[in-house]
Amino acid sequence: MNLEKTNLDIGKKHEGKVRDSYFLEDKIIMITTDRISAFDVVLGTIPCKGQILNQLSAFWFGETEHIIQNHLIEVPDPNTLVVKRCNPIPLEIIVRGHIRRPDNSWKEIETPIVTPTTKAAKGFHDQPITKEEIIGTGVLTEKEYEEIKYKALELFNFGKNLTLSKGEEFTLLDTKYEFARGADGKLVLIDEIHTPDSSRTKGQYDKEFLRTWLKERGYSGNGAIPEIPEDVKSELFSRYARFYEAVIGTKFVPEKDNSEKRIKRNLRNAGYLR
Ligand SMILES: Nc1ncnc2c1ncn2[C@@H]1O[C@H](COP(=O)(O)OP(=O)(O)OP(=O)(O)O)[C@@H](O)[C@H]1O
Ligand SMILES: [Mg+2]
Repeated sequence: MNLEKTNLDIGKKHEGKVRDSYFLEDKIIMITTDRISAFDVVLGTIPCKGQILNQLSAFWFGETEHIIQNHLIEVPDPNTLVVKRCNPIPLEIIVRGHIRRPDNSWKEIETPIVTPTTKAAKGFHDQPITKEEIIGTGVLTEKEYEEIKYKALELFNFGKNLTLSKGEEFTLLDTKYEFARGADGKLVLIDEIHTPDSSRTKGQYDKEFLRTWLKERGYSGNGAIPEIPEDVKSELFSRYARFYEAVIGTKFVPEKDNSEKRIKRNLRNAGYLR
């Protein structure tokens, strides 16, 4: 059974394309569902995808604490993170270690580059934004901008080296980070980190495989959504699971009871639900 949606009687719900987040006063209960999106459209569900993403994020948050503090408090359930609620900086910080050639092949660049985008409202695409615009509009001071850029590059280099050490095919090509200010004003890494939804890898252990499949059928975000056949879904599952196993180094064990009921039970046991 795939986890498509949740409906918890707690906090204020924010439904993203993939995650259902429940905002409490100082925490967020973030549930990663099995929903898959491409070209900013939700296209269905992929078995175990939520668990894989959630556990990968939790792993990377643990591994990168020496670079920057992050929002993770605990993992009460395989699909759920409880995180500190922070003041998000309304940017997506994209880091690229490779760029695409016109023939669609990838070229490694000597120094990874940081390209921020705006965080667009639902239904709109994120837009590139320059350092000058970010500072000029008061989103960040120059010092804050430089600090974020430096941290993003440190995180990316760490992720790139770790994935590369597991096999060249797993190497991160690019990824996206989000940052916030904590209650003390310090920079905090939020959202997700180095998942196959937020990153691309050399061997396409990510959504690129699905994007290509969709494009071949004439879909790139507009018009009728092609029905994704079971074999494409299970191929995508195995790609996500292989990335998990390579990075974490343990066998991926799918939760037998992949249901909202289980999540509620785990949240109740952890004291978040009555
Ligand atoms: N620790 C945090 N504190 C406050 N807000 C956070 C934190 N972590 C993530 N967020 C924000 O929570 C929101 C929910 O994230 P989510 O990614 O599920 O939805 P979205 O970004 O609105 O849509 P999309 O599915 O396109 O990513 C985002 O706006 C994200 O920036
Ligand atoms: Mg998001």
